[in-house]
Amino acid sequence: MKEKLIRKCLFPAAGYGTRFLPATKATPKEMLPILTKPLIQYGVEEAIAAGMDTMAIVTGRGKRAIEDHFDISYELEHQIKGTSKEHYLTEIRSVIEKCTFSYTRQIEMKGLGHAILTGGETLIGNEPFAVILADDLCDHEGNGVLAQMVELYEKYKCSIVAIEEVPKDETYKYGVIEGKEIEEGIFMISNMVEKPDPKDAPSNLAIIGRYILTPDIYEIIKNTKPGKNGELQITDSLMIQAKENMVIGYKFKGKRFDCGSIDGFVEATNHFYNKAK
Ligand code: G1P
Repeated sequence: MKEKLIRKCLFPAAGYGTRFLPATKATPKEMLPILTKPLIQYGVEEAIAAGMDTMAIVTGRGKRAIEDHFDISYELEHQIKGTSKEHYLTEIRSVIEKCTFSYTRQIEMKGLGHAILTGGETLIGNEPFAVILADDLCDHEGNGVLAQMVELYEKYKCSIVAIEEVPKDETYKYGVIEGKEIEEGIFMISNMVEKPDPKDAPSNLAIIGRYILTPDIYEIIKNTKPGKNGELQITDSLMIQAKENMVIGYKFKGKRFDCGSIDGFVEATNHFYNKAK
């Protein structure tokens, strides 16, 4: 069997989810459900489908529900066993059986770069790994976005970011790349800027929450200066990596919902509801 090059997936999940208050006051935003499944479970299932078996989750205060979700609930198992309701647990049981979960807390919110460094060094170590931002929910018939990126990694063996075209007036919400298209939909990145004003954006190709990172990124993050909003931005670290090595932007196949916004959340709910009907 072919050796798996990428086995581990990191989930930064320490953010407050202020846009969903009061729902997120006592519930992690990653646990908000699209139909009956929490957002983070969609992400974990995408990582499993891409061949990964080790999930590393960066949490923070108030996020214990995530750990409980990916664990056995003995009372519930006991109550439901042998009843007509047992099938409701099938999907989550299978997720728990297929992979292991580890957690570390990000004590201070110092940006996505900082979250990746915190989780990567502690829970992943010296190997290439994937990153999923669970509030970007992706769906594709056939290979999921992360599976597509793993395939690309096997060819290029460098850091990869998933990108999509966004309206030019929305660049301020994203990391934006510029690059040379070396194959259809595959860009060798020459420039990337975190959340630029539309007038300063180098293109309308926005980074969405799927990354594959090579482990040299840890040292690069440590040497990156705080950027946008005074935070350590992974976009800035990837730009340094792009200069030293090569970083690829990949126009993925599929649909992505910004479940960090109310509009995207409702859109995703409708999409999965119609699909399930
Ligand atoms: C983060 C990244 C940004 C990226 C976005 C994708 O921003 O910093 O580069 O485009 O995720 O969702 P956030 O949405 O966490 O502010």
